[in-house]
Amino acid sequence: MNKILLLQLIILCSSRVFLTTGRPLAADGNPVPAPAVHREVYADGRMFDISHRVTKELPSWDSKDGLGQFLFSLASIKNGSVVNASEMKMSVHTGTHVDAPSHMFDNYSDAGFDADTLDLEVLNGPALLVDVPRDKNITAEVMMALNIPKGVRRVLFRTLNTDRQLMWKKEFDSSYAGFMKDGAKWLVENTDIKLVGLDYLSVAAYVEALDTHLEFLASREIILVEGLKLDNIQPGLYDLHCLPIRLLGADGSPTRCILIK
Ligand SMILES: *[C@@H]1O[C@H](CO)[C@@H](O)[C@H](O)[C@H]1NC(C)=O
Ligand SMILES: *[C@@H]1O[C@H](CO)[C@@H](O)[C@H](O)[C@H]1NC(C)=O
Ligand SMILES: *[C@@H]1O[C@H](CO)[C@@H](O)[C@H](O)[C@H]1NC(C)=O
Ligand SMILES: *[C@@H]1O[C@H](CO)[C@@H](O)[C@H](O)[C@H]1NC(C)=O
Repeated sequence: MNKILLLQLIILCSSRVFLTTGRPLAADGNPVPAPAVHREVYADGRMFDISHRVTKELPSWDSKDGLGQFLFSLASIKNGSVVNASEMKMSVHTGTHVDAPSHMFDNYSDAGFDADTLDLEVLNGPALLVDVPRDKNITAEVMMALNIPKGVRRVLFRTLNTDRQLMWKKEFDSSYAGFMKDGAKWLVENTDIKLVGLDYLSVAAYVEALDTHLEFLASREIILVEGLKLDNIQPGLYDLHCLPIRLLGADGSPTRCILIK
């Protein structure tokens, strides 16, 4: 091949590779996109994603194996379809999620108090992130000592679960920290809190999980947000936004939750 032609070819190729995007080209001639970035914090450090990414490794209630496969392909570009399209299958109590009154009460279930009826006004508004003592579950005594002012309607309780990184371990750990029944009862009777958030799969400690949920959900006024990701955030006052999926008839729903400083 003529040397000048070869040189021109090299310049042509290298300019396509390096001058357009600085990235290599795929077989179809388009640049290979840079790998996507998965973020926890947005808006120059003012907006925090406090929901857990749904992965196969998420812990799942009473299971050693975690969530496992939850996405299934219906159509795939690699297989010659024009689109990628998937379906999913998982518990409505997977990862970061809310509980509806129908989760615990058959009469509320019959009356239709499902995930779609949860009050968006409660799920969105000013919220306090507090650290609770690491050496106890959340009892009435602990609640009293936290001294949460009247008028505070949304509280995210950060516990030993965050330090232990329990939501990042696929094996379910029943020794997680949470509310004891008397702690829930004290909250219901003595505070204005209508949204209770916690950093493991249940707001209620395992030993009293059922009774504690009953205390919280009996009035249908309190929304429970479970499986929050509260790592690396300063305690204090934020704007909370939680938007569960409108699952008709469901006793819970996965939700995205964010905090804005
Ligand atoms: C792609 O096609 C192969 C062979 O028919 C099949 O085994 C595989 O399940 C398909 N994958 C998807 C994602 O549809
Ligand atoms: C598209 O489908 C393929 C399977 O054929 C899968 O490997 C890939 O992750 C899918 N991409 C998205 C964004 O779903
Ligand atoms: C719903 O049932 C529970 C017990 O299962 C009972 O304590 C509660 O009073 C009932 N609520 C209403 C509104 O009927
Ligand atoms: C909280 O209760 C669980 C049982 O539900 C127990 O295993 C755990 O040790 C308790 N946590 C603390 C900090 O006392």
